[in-house]
Amino acid sequence: DLKESMQTKWQAPSNIALVKYWGKYGMQLPANPSLSFTLNECRTITKVKAKTGEHGFSISYDGVEKPEFAPKIKAYFERIEDYCPWILDYYFEIDTHNTFPHSSGIASSASSMAALSACMMDFEAQLTGQELDYHKMSFLARLGSGSACRSLKGEAVQWGEHKNTADGSNYYGVDKSELLHPIFQDYQDTILLVDKGEKVVSSTVGHDLMNDHAYASRRFEQAHENLATLKTALKEGDLDTFIKITESEALTLHAMMMTSHPYFILMKPNTLSIIEAIWAFRKETQIPVCFTLDAGANVHMLYPKKHKDSVDKLINNKLAQYCQNSHYICDEIGTGATKV
Ligand code: PMV
Repeated sequence: DLKESMQTKWQAPSNIALVKYWGKYGMQLPANPSLSFTLNECRTITKVKAKTGEHGFSISYDGVEKPEFAPKIKAYFERIEDYCPWILDYYFEIDTHNTFPHSSGIASSASSMAALSACMMDFEAQLTGQELDYHKMSFLARLGSGSACRSLKGEAVQWGEHKNTADGSNYYGVDKSELLHPIFQDYQDTILLVDKGEKVVSSTVGHDLMNDHAYASRRFEQAHENLATLKTALKEGDLDTFIKITESEALTLHAMMMTSHPYFILMKPNTLSIIEAIWAFRKETQIPVCFTLDAGANVHMLYPKKHKDSVDKLINNKLAQYCQNSHYICDEIGTGATKV
């Protein structure tokens, strides 16, 4: 049933991968499975009005038109139209807002594509009278930005078929919260903002570089192995193994970029200073804090909430000096997208 106008508003968080997605094929399908923690504070809030009429859209950020966002959204609508043909009967007015600063070096593609996909599925539910379909929501988000499919539902989300356990899907993220031992349920992610600039390598370019990469096939195998080991560690609350896999995955992601053609170094000197300080702190205090990295210079510190005071002290005494304008963001594990 065509409705003349509809309106909805959803928020969706960012996520941080433990086992990294790096390399894709076909229509946004991952070369290897990945698993992430869903975040809570770094979010995109998106309001959409749909009106029947010629298909198209407008996009604004906090009410200000943003033509520079339009190409990504246009591509997104083109990709989803086969799965949501009803969109062709509508014009969409999209207004969006991020809870994290624009120039923080934190990509908003995961949270924004997840929030927009939630709005689209909300409309679809309004039109069909059926319940919200979270798998399809994640499927649509994947078409916007691969890792966005891990930002919809659950504290821990797997994307990609895992051959060692024969679970997961290449088409959408699967909620793996049931894996989480209590020690992981209040995990903190403090994001140290080493470099707030634009990404040197867009993830599109980065994924492409895995196509003729000398180490690609071994890397994809390794991701399956690491995912199996990580899942057991998450179940058992095995922090030593969690740390080993998480840190190794971050360094491997960067190693892939250093060994591609063209090659890139995305870490900055301060990234390394922070990693060394985290290792020294962990050795000295036995506090199980570890790091992970995205495709950039910022450092994510992961640790159980009960160690927050000690980690805060470490940041104030030592790590803040390595951050641009001493800036960092305190985030923690969250549950996914919700209607607002
Ligand atoms: O979703 P994309 O295409 O922006 O790729 C994200 C890739 C990494 O953030 C580096 C790893 C990941 O699994 O999130």
